[in-house]
Amino acid sequence: MAKDFDSMEDSNRSANASIHEVSLPSRRTVLVGGVAASLAAMLAPLAGRASTAPGASPQAGQTLGFKGVPVGMGDALVVPEGYVASVIAAWGEPVGVPGRMPAFRFDGSNSADDQAVQMGMHHDGIHFYPLNPQGTRGLLAMNHEYTDDGLLHTSGLADWSAEKVQKSKNAHGLSVVEVAQQGDGGWAMVRPSTYARRVTMDTPFGIGGPAAGHPMMRTAADPTGRRVLGTLNNCASGMTPWGTYLSGEENFAFYFAAGKNLDAHQRRWGLRDKGLYRWEEHDERFDAARHPNEPNRFGWVVELDPMDPTSTPIKRTALGRAAHEGAWVAVTRDGRAVVYSGEDARFEYIYKFVSRDRIQPAGNGLTAAQANRELLDHGTLYVARFDADGTGRWIPLVHGQGPLTAANGFADQGEVVIKARQASDALGATKMDRPEWLAIDAKDGWVYCTLTNNSARGAQGQPGVDAANPRANNTMGHIIRWKEDGDFDGAAFRWNHLVMGGDPANTRAEARGNIRGDIFGCADGIAFDARGVLWIQTDAHATQMYKGEFERLGNNQMLACDPATGEVRRFLTAPTNCEVTGVTWAEGGRTMFVNIQHPGETPSDRSDPAQPRRFSNWPDYRPDGRPRSATVVIRRKDGGVIGA
Ligand code: FEO
Ligand code: CA
Ligand code: CA
Ligand code: CA
Repeated sequence: MAKDFDSMEDSNRSANASIHEVSLPSRRTVLVGGVAASLAAMLAPLAGRASTAPGASPQAGQTLGFKGVPVGMGDALVVPEGYVASVIAAWGEPVGVPGRMPAFRFDGSNSADDQAVQMGMHHDGIHFYPLNPQGTRGLLAMNHEYTDDGLLHTSGLADWSAEKVQKSKNAHGLSVVEVAQQGDGGWAMVRPSTYARRVTMDTPFGIGGPAAGHPMMRTAADPTGRRVLGTLNNCASGMTPWGTYLSGEENFAFYFAAGKNLDAHQRRWGLRDKGLYRWEEHDERFDAARHPNEPNRFGWVVELDPMDPTSTPIKRTALGRAAHEGAWVAVTRDGRAVVYSGEDARFEYIYKFVSRDRIQPAGNGLTAAQANRELLDHGTLYVARFDADGTGRWIPLVHGQGPLTAANGFADQGEVVIKARQASDALGATKMDRPEWLAIDAKDGWVYCTLTNNSARGAQGQPGVDAANPRANNTMGHIIRWKEDGDFDGAAFRWNHLVMGGDPANTRAEARGNIRGDIFGCADGIAFDARGVLWIQTDAHATQMYKGEFERLGNNQMLACDPATGEVRRFLTAPTNCEVTGVTWAEGGRTMFVNIQHPGETPSDRSDPAQPRRFSNWPDYRPDGRPRSATVVIRRKDGGVIGA
């Protein structure tokens, strides 16, 4: 999420920042006293990476076999010479539910009912599920993070109504669409398709794990605390080895109106008096003053089986509640699932869940998804502490251990996961600079996490810098990585920084990056392709872009990085005022799908339908149209592997 409000949530006032400051006063003094000099020495530039990376660093480099593109400034999507990009599945296109395929109306006049079977707004995480061995036909599962009501409705926020709230709710959630390669190599949606599905705010979800049925999960509409309608603000995605799709409910707090009298729990979770989306004006469920447990039912990682359009998606509470960006799965040598997840808010945390049971193969009449239906409901949740000596610890969030007792407000494991932020505060976890995506290098087990930015570190009343988050005014973000000691379920790890974002020519020391190659800031989406290239997508704010230290970075972009050498090359530049987020591959790496989110997003005004069109008209470029989030299909003209 790039909109101004995505960094407004800033609710961690816990006192546990001192862990680094107390134990390592000298380092902190150095950083505060001479940021420029100490950053240069401490944040080993990529040139020195091999000597600073402990353990098995990536060995073999991957050739970046394309000619990089220049910084983007126009309202266009640009890919390298020899590549071709086309758009599918833009917001409002019918997903292909048989018998219900209303055409998109460029004036925004589609009804809420239409929207329930059309692509949602604000495409984000995405994953391809092949339906044939060649990977030339398959399903795309993807998220729709939020809505811009100025664009969603013909008259924007004017005459706000129950119909408009319903349309916004229907434009949230997930989509499953069938796609197939065409004779010319391009791709198209297959419509109708029996797989086509929208998951919206009205879709029934099950609740799994220790919070299922918990008193804090019960509401008037659901006295069992085991069934909730809908998912929202779904940001990044993950896919499981058993073929399901994971999605993080990120900034859920913005959907609720909690009134003036917030209690400590509501404050810690960033609730406010009014909801940003004004749903509470026509749907009482989002009035958290009247329904205080309703927000507890959001902030989870949700799991969907995209292959079964009749399946009920599940909220996996054992993974902890957070403003989850997404969830990424590794597998231990003995076959258990390890799920990494970050919480994209200032000063929040990085988590890891280790399943109790082993992943089961398909068999006995069950698909792999069905055979692992409860796998993510049982296991141990940990939160990360990054120590200044380059080591780190995973601290268990287990009821009864350490401070997580009834006396401290944690009655049981359900309350620990519902109050994962408070639990992590109590455990002294490290407050990070907005953890966004993670990616796991299949070749060597290094885990990477983008820390997109944090301009408040060191500000009045906020934690200061620490070794893992070493810039006070970190406008450009950085990418941290770690290697577990032993297997993925290890209790300890070693970490370092892959790269600090920002133009190395910036005059302000904390905005100056150590990128080797093409420059970027505010890394957000990251993913490894099958060759081991790390693809990096950026999300700088529209309010920041094109000015000052961001001026030379241009539009948001996507770059390829060889983690062995640190070389970074710009692969794609995106239209004006969008972010690039979500990437997946098909056809053995010969097709890449990339999501473009919120082209033309206005710096501040969500109410005026005319505003975004002043900035972007992508991808339709129709004078009577409106900018639309969409999926971009990228191929090489010679049919080769992308990036090779
Ligand atoms: Fe939804 Fe953290 O970006
Ligand atoms: Ca986003
Ligand atoms: Ca972001
Ligand atoms: Ca994001």
